[in-house]
Amino acid sequence: MVFPEYRPRRLRKNESFRSLVRETHLNASQLIYPLFVMPGKNIREKIASMPGIFRLSIDQLAREAKECQTLGVNAVILFGLPEKKDAMASGAHAKNGIIQKAIKELKNKAPDLMVVTDVCLCEYTDHGHCGCIIGSDVDNDATLEILAKTALSHAQAGADMVAPSDMMDGRVAEIRGILDENNFETLPIMSYAVKYASSFYGPFREAADCSPQFGDRRSYQMDPANSREAMREAMLDVEEGADILMVKPAVAYLDIISKLKEEFDLPIAAYHVSGEYAMIKAAAEKGWIDGEKVMRETLLSIRRAGADIIITYFAKDMAKLLRE
Ligand code: PBG
Repeated sequence: MVFPEYRPRRLRKNESFRSLVRETHLNASQLIYPLFVMPGKNIREKIASMPGIFRLSIDQLAREAKECQTLGVNAVILFGLPEKKDAMASGAHAKNGIIQKAIKELKNKAPDLMVVTDVCLCEYTDHGHCGCIIGSDVDNDATLEILAKTALSHAQAGADMVAPSDMMDGRVAEIRGILDENNFETLPIMSYAVKYASSFYGPFREAADCSPQFGDRRSYQMDPANSREAMREAMLDVEEGADILMVKPAVAYLDIISKLKEEFDLPIAAYHVSGEYAMIKAAAEKGWIDGEKVMRETLLSIRRAGADIIITYFAKDMAKLLRE
């Protein structure tokens, strides 16, 4: 069928037709909202490069949780700024650490809200790397034990799901093992399976105060040039017991999301990261783009590429728009 018998415009005539044949949808229930938690009381600290996002003290979390729930966003992912950092990231798995306390507060005040935790050490190490340093690099196998302890401490505090983002080899199996040994066999792991050494994390590192103090993360995060390697990384995590596979960042890696979706039958998540958020906010503030429309189109493109779940700083804004 070709023109003039076939006219694609027939089905674009008005919004009724357009919505009838729409292939991809955004839903608040598919969004996860990141929260930054810090010590202190009554604090809502602005993050300069992420307008609209705040570092919150624990007493502010309940209010945030209620707002998410009212908007239909049923899941948050937590990042913590500890009181003190050290070489071995002891704050990451402290019984009364910042995240452990935040989980308890959220579970207390908003029991139905899904609490996901980021399992990584970079916010807790004084050198800012995602594991412990032996010699001049992050030591993979020594880090595994600390990551596993951290994931277990999150589970014990009441987390609903853990999300390891460190990119150490073998960490999913290590975490699955310790969870199962401690009767958390029903607690799922959302693995940052394919995480690139990206420059789009800049604003997050300001927000979470976790820039590496020397070198960079290229010896553990993936080379942005590689896509076949992404399949191998994902396959390993599936074999180690991941329940959800994540790709990060999102927009610059839509091809990777799409390949994972075709290759694997696990749910696929995408992290629309801080730099991706900041760029849209900045251009919108300057009046160069329509921020709301670009947000919607961007999140839709991530879904269209194949993401079932999107972690995004836009979660509340998007959910608000979806209610209109
Ligand atoms: C921890 C972690 C990072 C992000 C999520 N978890 C920073 C990093 O890997 O350097 C980035 C998220 C974002 O940019 O929004 N390792």
